[in-house]
Amino acid sequence: MTDQDIKKGLAGVVVDTTKVSKVVQETNSLTYRGYPVQELAANCSFEEVAYLIWHGELPTPEQLAEFTARERGQRAIDQKLIDLILSLPTDCHPMHVVQTAAAYLGAVDPEADVEGPEANLAKAERMYAQLPTIVAVDHRRRHGLDPVAPTEDLGYAANFFKMVFDEVPAEEVVRCFDVSMILYAEHSFNASTFTARVITSTTSDMYSAVAGAIGALKGPLHGGANEAVMAMLEEVGTADKASAWIDKALENKEKIMGFGHRVYKNGDSRVPTMRKAFEDMVEAKGATDLLDLYNAFEEDFVGRKGIYPNLDYPSGPAYHLMGFDTPQFTPIFVMARITGWTAHIMEQQASNALIRPLSAYDGEEQRSVPTKSD
Ligand code: ACO
Repeated sequence: MTDQDIKKGLAGVVVDTTKVSKVVQETNSLTYRGYPVQELAANCSFEEVAYLIWHGELPTPEQLAEFTARERGQRAIDQKLIDLILSLPTDCHPMHVVQTAAAYLGAVDPEADVEGPEANLAKAERMYAQLPTIVAVDHRRRHGLDPVAPTEDLGYAANFFKMVFDEVPAEEVVRCFDVSMILYAEHSFNASTFTARVITSTTSDMYSAVAGAIGALKGPLHGGANEAVMAMLEEVGTADKASAWIDKALENKEKIMGFGHRVYKNGDSRVPTMRKAFEDMVEAKGATDLLDLYNAFEEDFVGRKGIYPNLDYPSGPAYHLMGFDTPQFTPIFVMARITGWTAHIMEQQASNALIRPLSAYDGEEQRSVPTKSD
């Protein structure tokens, strides 16, 4: 095996087929089940997109009504899970809380190891319905606040705001959040989805695959970038300081969070839509200083490196303006990506091959263990 045979980071390697989404690098396009993501964000709710990702078609009004009723009916989490969340250290990263909760849902599901389309869909829908409640309970406990129970009267996004803040913000804020959920829902064989598929390929269960995917998403080179972007913008402070901050970061060979992408090299297809949602949030909150900083930073960095923003660049500051704590941004990403992960888990199960690549050994040559007398 030569160095050329080694595909470090699996860059450029096609490992399987998928019908869930298509990313076209050359045209910077992303489609879910054939529909451009921008059109879905403009015309659909996250609930409709979740249905599409799992079923392959957008729901009819009747199908949507049944689907949303099932989601609303499953939002409450059991008291033992609330107690488990409350028992975790308040200074732990919220992604550890979400991961623990995903594992818990597997532990208490007597059908955790039952496969097949119906059982899988039931598990996927339950996690989709309960993850917002889990994230909201964790968000509130860190402020010393009691949980706010979910309500069946509100849509997915509005109910999440209600559970976190005990109030529902203006319609345009709820809509911006919904758009972010649609954009985050699915993205082919990204690191966390691939992790879920690797775990599934061993014929392990859906909860284990999701818990593993949450671990992969946590890293700042992947989902953790949305919170890292906000931390970075806060550290920079104001637009006039962006250039000097970038000088120093590049001198130190740091990666600039929210920029660059393994697949998109000329700009992330989701960014224009999320940037517009961020601008709507800026308008709703009158946060022009943040927009000035955002623009100055982007213009400077893109001008120097020709490396473009990814979805996390606009979504981080948008979530900040919605009022969410920065460490909760990646758990919010989990709430969206649970749809894509579980669709891929089902696809992997339906046509499985154990994922087990090879490695090229470059360690010590074979040698003998020294005997005691040596
Ligand atoms: N800041 C500075 N330099 C960068 C950045 C960045 N954000 N992204 C890429 N580069 C540079 C690299 O240093 C490298 O330069 P070199 O060739 O001189 O060594 C070159 O561009 C190629 O970069 P790689 O890291 O090899 O490209 P890869 O495809 O592996 O990386 C990645 C993609 C990991 C996303 C990278 O761009 C990065 O670290 N970005 C910052 C983290 C981030 O925003 N992640 C979110 C991804 S999107 C998502 O998960 C929703």
